[in-house]
Amino acid sequence: MKNIVVLLSGQGSNMDAIVRACAAEKWDAGVCAVISNRADAPGLALAKAHGIPTAVVDHKNFATRDAFDSALADLIDTYRPDWLVLAGFMRILTPAFVQRFEGRMLNVHPSLLPAFTGLHTHKRAIAAGCKLAGATVHFVTPDLDHGPIVAQAVVPVLPTDTEASLAARVLAREHVIYPLALRWCLEGALRTADGVVSHRDGAAQLIT
Ligand code: GAR
Repeated sequence: MKNIVVLLSGQGSNMDAIVRACAAEKWDAGVCAVISNRADAPGLALAKAHGIPTAVVDHKNFATRDAFDSALADLIDTYRPDWLVLAGFMRILTPAFVQRFEGRMLNVHPSLLPAFTGLHTHKRAIAAGCKLAGATVHFVTPDLDHGPIVAQAVVPVLPTDTEASLAARVLAREHVIYPLALRWCLEGALRTADGVVSHRDGAAQLIT
């Protein structure tokens, strides 16, 4: 049985989707802890409702980013994670943190990377007149929002879209690709060559 640790800062709907997929598809794995940098993150209550242990490491209690990341990494290691899953974890991670978990750490980002790294992705996609938007699950590297891409989902941008309506359409697809990408990782089904990830059986990594 493999251990998954989830980091989140907000609602936790991606964590919820992963926990549900884990149970529904009877993965040989489980979310053994959900950790947040915010004590008021609604995702913590959701995790508790699933019976998952939770913890808070509040970044405001640390003088430096290095000190926060080091305390967070030490706590994560107590759960002996096979995979570390960033699910709406809104902190920039230091290279030392990333190196500690590199190769077993995934992130979901609400854009078609490498477009729109960083914040306010939906607002920026609408302002740019994009006709397509989407989400990306990728391996985490020290280069923010730039790791090898495991899976992407595309959605249309409609002329009537607001930031909120586009975000909701993208989030619904995140709930499909994130559990799928994590399952592939747990199964050891992925290979990375020259920064490009492929599935050993050629499974579609683009979800429409
Ligand atoms: C998701 O849209 C995720 O892609 C985004 O935060 C949201 C979290 O939702 N993450 C980022 O922007 C990271 N750069 P959730 O808390 O309901 O899973």
